[in-house]
Amino acid sequence: MVKYVVEKNGKLMPSNEMKKIAWVSDEKIYKDAEKNPVKFWERLAEEGISWEKKWKKPYVEKLPYFEWFKGGKLNFCFNCLDRHLKNNGNKVALIWVPEPTGEKTIKLTYKQLHEKVCRFANVLKKNGVRKGDAVSIYLPMIPEALIVMLACTRIGAIHSVVFSAFSADALKSRIEDCKAKILVTSDGYYRRGEEEELLGKAKEAAEKTTIKKIIVVRRLGKKLDKELDFEEEIKKAKADCDCETVNSEDIMFILYTSGTTGKPKGIVHDTGGYAVQAYWTCKWNFNLHDDDIMWCTADVGWITGHSYAFYGPLLNGCTTLVYEGSPDFPDYGRWWKIIQDNKVTVFYTAPTAIRMFMKAGDEWPRKYNLGSLKILGTVGEPINEEAWMWYFNRIGSKRCPVIDTWWQTETGGTLINSLPGIGPFVPTVSGRSFPGTRHIVVDDKGKEVKNGETGNLVQLSPFAPGMLHGVYKNHEKYVETYWRFKTKYDTSDGAYIKNGLIRMTGRTDDVMKVAGHRLATAELEDAISKDNSVAECAVVPIADEIKGQVPVAFVVLKSGEGSEEIEKEIKKFVDKKIGPTARPAKIYFVEDLPKTRSGKIMRRILKALLNNEDPGNLMTLINPEIVEKIKEIIQKSSEKA
Ligand code: WTA
Repeated sequence: MVKYVVEKNGKLMPSNEMKKIAWVSDEKIYKDAEKNPVKFWERLAEEGISWEKKWKKPYVEKLPYFEWFKGGKLNFCFNCLDRHLKNNGNKVALIWVPEPTGEKTIKLTYKQLHEKVCRFANVLKKNGVRKGDAVSIYLPMIPEALIVMLACTRIGAIHSVVFSAFSADALKSRIEDCKAKILVTSDGYYRRGEEEELLGKAKEAAEKTTIKKIIVVRRLGKKLDKELDFEEEIKKAKADCDCETVNSEDIMFILYTSGTTGKPKGIVHDTGGYAVQAYWTCKWNFNLHDDDIMWCTADVGWITGHSYAFYGPLLNGCTTLVYEGSPDFPDYGRWWKIIQDNKVTVFYTAPTAIRMFMKAGDEWPRKYNLGSLKILGTVGEPINEEAWMWYFNRIGSKRCPVIDTWWQTETGGTLINSLPGIGPFVPTVSGRSFPGTRHIVVDDKGKEVKNGETGNLVQLSPFAPGMLHGVYKNHEKYVETYWRFKTKYDTSDGAYIKNGLIRMTGRTDDVMKVAGHRLATAELEDAISKDNSVAECAVVPIADEIKGQVPVAFVVLKSGEGSEEIEKEIKKFVDKKIGPTARPAKIYFVEDLPKTRSGKIMRRILKALLNNEDPGNLMTLINPEIVEKIKEIIQKSSEKA
């Protein structure tokens, strides 16, 4: 079996075989790009993306805003589908694996996918969707999610995908923010062998909003009320639909993400710049050639699902694999069986999943032939060395590089990682800034720190083409969240740089990564404090062996004592307000929260108590005596457990 990595001077590096097949294998690329990053990206834009009209200005920067390929015109869907039809029309674009093992895998060629997308684009048009209108998409991992998203981009409509495990309330607030006209959803989906309901939540969310029609994919075959049936509608629609030409800087999609307040922010992405970054990062990070089969396990409700489960592979004319269900259904061998059966070559997943499989045992991957794999990727949260090594040894059989990609919803595509043909592949270290971009580490005043020192990771101008175009209708939020250093984009991540390689150290704000899912403590606090019994609360993350982090809540009740029943009720309430992903792992009922004189809740102290650490100086507290009491409550509870 081909080995793609070798050990050189104690470091894992690309083998000659890898260098031979790699798109980039010469370090020079970094230096060349750095000389003139705008020119570099211009060349990539020209080479990778089909434009209807070339841009007049490659890059215009008026901070805090900047635009790429200004004056350029294109259609995103054309780039994902139409341009591949002539030579690759019969090639499989999408392999879809349903969760129920008795159901057949579905394969759609570029031609077939193109036809479905055109038909659905016509359905959208018939229902009044025009260029610039927003469409909300609340779909599980089924082919229709891809079809609907591409259909939006075909007619220049803006899509806003909402994670299907989010609650009706979460969906509603996102519909209201972008004023979507149409909601596309399904009657449900399969999860761990059970039917999960979705339509009820969708209907509840759409009530009294701008939504005029709900279009439903009948995944479970349920009867509809007054909603439109996806299948019937596309059958009636015409099979061709012209691509709407849009400006490079026109909004392509909004994706809501957690910030430091209770309300999620609508991260705005444009068309041209996003396409360029999605195309090239996918191609170079995963060394995609057109016979590759890529499987990115992320749900489309998150940015990784957008950029690497769907768009990146299609822009590159490859085959992408999508799996509907749970990784452990019917057993822990499911993912490895999918890789074997479909000869997946590039596999991209999250540390949480790797840790879960590591715990489940080596016997599961051992049962399957994973020899088709060439590249392994990870994303979403810091990966610990043990998980990295297990992934490298057990899944890649020491043959495949592990590409640890750092990026964010805001950056649209990956930005920091080692390239497969260049390396090095160092556990827990992400690597270098993608060619044509630059990151440094600064202190809280914005001054660059010394090599090896930890600080705030920032990005320097010119900012990458796929970066956000602002926060939807919220200029203040945009400025305050990302531009505290004025001319440097603040990632809100901590990091240090050693020997030119960047290592992440976690968020610097109150954002948690729970099983790779992004969640703000403020969002959770906002939800919990709306429960009728709650007077006040504070949420802090604690480390979790598998999920990386999990939220823990400290709750002050309006009256009476806490109990298991109330804990259950509050957890249920969080499910309703946000979704089960946000459910606190534990709730402590306390009589007060540690606060400063100005009323600020000291979450730092709560964190220290949970971790059995010294809470430090309590002088600034207005109620220092509460700290000891909370400590006792935590201790008692752990004794009970
Ligand atoms: C974290 C996910 C360490 C980071 C694509 C970032 C990572 C946040 C890595 C964005 C990585 C992402 N190593 N941390 N390789 N990748 N993160 O918006 O804290 O869901 O700011 O985008 O995930 O999360 P988001």
